Amino acid sequence: MSEITITKPDDWHLHFRDGDLLNETVPATARCFQRAIVMPNLVPPVRNRAEALAYKQRILAAAPTDSNFEPLMVLYLTNETTANDIRQAAGIDIPAAKLYPAGATTNSDAAVSGIESLYPIFETMSEAGMLLLIHGEVTDPKTDIFDRERLFIDQYLAPIHMRFPELKIVFEHITTADAADFVLSATATLAATITPQHLLLNRNDLLVGGIKPHNYCLPILKRNTHQQRLREVVASGSPKFFLGTDSAPHAKHTKETACGCAGCYSAWGALELYTQVFDDLNCLDKLEGFASFYGADFYSLARNTEQLTLTRKPWTMPQEIPLANGDSVVPFFAVKR
Ligand code: DOR
Ligand code: ZN
Repeated sequence: MSEITITKPDDWHLHFRDGDLLNETVPATARCFQRAIVMPNLVPPVRNRAEALAYKQRILAAAPTDSNFEPLMVLYLTNETTANDIRQAAGIDIPAAKLYPAGATTNSDAAVSGIESLYPIFETMSEAGMLLLIHGEVTDPKTDIFDRERLFIDQYLAPIHMRFPELKIVFEHITTADAADFVLSATATLAATITPQHLLLNRNDLLVGGIKPHNYCLPILKRNTHQQRLREVVASGSPKFFLGTDSAPHAKHTKETACGCAGCYSAWGALELYTQVFDDLNCLDKLEGFASFYGADFYSLARNTEQLTLTRKPWTMPQEIPLANGDSVVPFFAVKR
């Protein structure tokens, strides 16, 4: 097969950042995605309707005029979030709120300590039909980094899901067989996104032959048995798993340094890389569901109607993208370092 035509996909989890960087990140995503769920981990974070809609306008101002690109905004849950913040925000342009356990990842200092204290907020979200997006890792510094997602399931995710059965939850960027199997065993209100890096790579790709900072993200890449399980569940065509790139730019010098930042900037090739995975697994017929249908269905949004054609041909990712401020970013998969 040299061509495949699918309904235009959406990206159900990414980081655009703010300011001048939007002129790079928004067109890179609008290139092939119709909508995107935009993470709110700015500094300061996006905490209420006014902040979310102002951010949305800045994103739209950076979108190519002919793209019809639609950013879907997300609130950042803090210990100060009120039920009123949720009620005012809930609606089609702000369909979700994000739970970062404090200290879990980039710009999560403002996040929640004591997740149970948010239960009244989850109740309001459930009533308002707002989705809960979760970065599912425990943050206790003594917990091994490779166990953080698995332990989050029993300690936090399962209790939240059981207590709020109507609340739609997206277990974001899952990385383990434990997470995939938990999602499969849960009811229809729990689903997960999966990134290209967690389908393509395992921890050898991060650590063997020298540290590869451009493959460093959180949750961290796991052993290959976990990668294989993620590949199996997307190949199965289960509607509980859908596309979320977690594209997250960091300036080159902040990744290639003694204490490098977590995040893979995949927008430049994410759809092509996912397609490669489905092709390798001999299940290109499952790509459209994963990329274009299941996310919209889970969010109760209409599926897109435009089509997009992918053509099989050699293609070279730019090694580095210059930014307006003189920095640059290295796209995910540009270099095998
Ligand atoms: O690798 C990551 N980068 N994981 C996250 O959860 C956040 C993201 C970022 O914002 O850079
Ligand atoms: Zn993310």
